Amino acid sequence: MIRLDKLLSDAGLASRRELKTILKTAAVCVNGRPVTDGAFKVDPAADRVTFRGEPVEGPRRVVLMLHKPAGYVSSTEDPRDRTVMELIPELLLRQGVVPVGRLDKETEGLLLFTNDGELAHRLISPKHGIEKRYYARHEGTAGEADAAAFAAGLELRDGTRCLPAVLRPLGPGESEITVTEGKYHQVRRMMAARGHTVTYLRREAEGPLTLCGLPLGELRELTAEEIELLYNITKAPN
Ligand code: URA
Repeated sequence: MIRLDKLLSDAGLASRRELKTILKTAAVCVNGRPVTDGAFKVDPAADRVTFRGEPVEGPRRVVLMLHKPAGYVSSTEDPRDRTVMELIPELLLRQGVVPVGRLDKETEGLLLFTNDGELAHRLISPKHGIEKRYYARHEGTAGEADAAAFAAGLELRDGTRCLPAVLRPLGPGESEITVTEGKYHQVRRMMAARGHTVTYLRREAEGPLTLCGLPLGELRELTAEEIELLYNITKAPN
């Protein structure tokens, strides 16, 4: 049994405080009877809860794409820095979304959020090798030798070995890099290992998803088709 106001806020209806007002209007019924007390206990599996006549479902699955700006850390709390959670509207936070993986504080770009633990696990698992594509500005100009070193599997300055990756030089001081793992500061460290210190980094794609014009700092919910696609590409055993 859980409190009615908890059930309603978990379903994303409104915050606990807003719910007090909503409940007063007798818009919420349990098994057909109006209930105005948020502390009222309900059994989500057995009781029929409605809001203005519509059934209140359990928390729905939410998957979001954020175009992360620089200056935010990808954790749910931080004692010093602003976190990406500050960029998510309250209503979606109440659905329990958390970041899927990380982008460094100074990295911009595509960052997924979800309240679907299974999907998050699949996307992060190195076994699924989801490709992540980055645009980097860096010191010097990358060339064929750098691309070959990436393809062979780079050794970082601390001796860590990376899986084969793709570096595509775009011109003086600019490259596109595609990796299938998510080591700490991976792209910056890979480029540093080749003598090309990264000065700007943006994730442009994760698997089949791209930023596709999403403005910096904005977010959008993925469609059911996009979510299905993510499940399909992570079907391999893990
Ligand atoms: N590689 C990095 O160096 N930083 C990121 O944020 C992501 C990949």
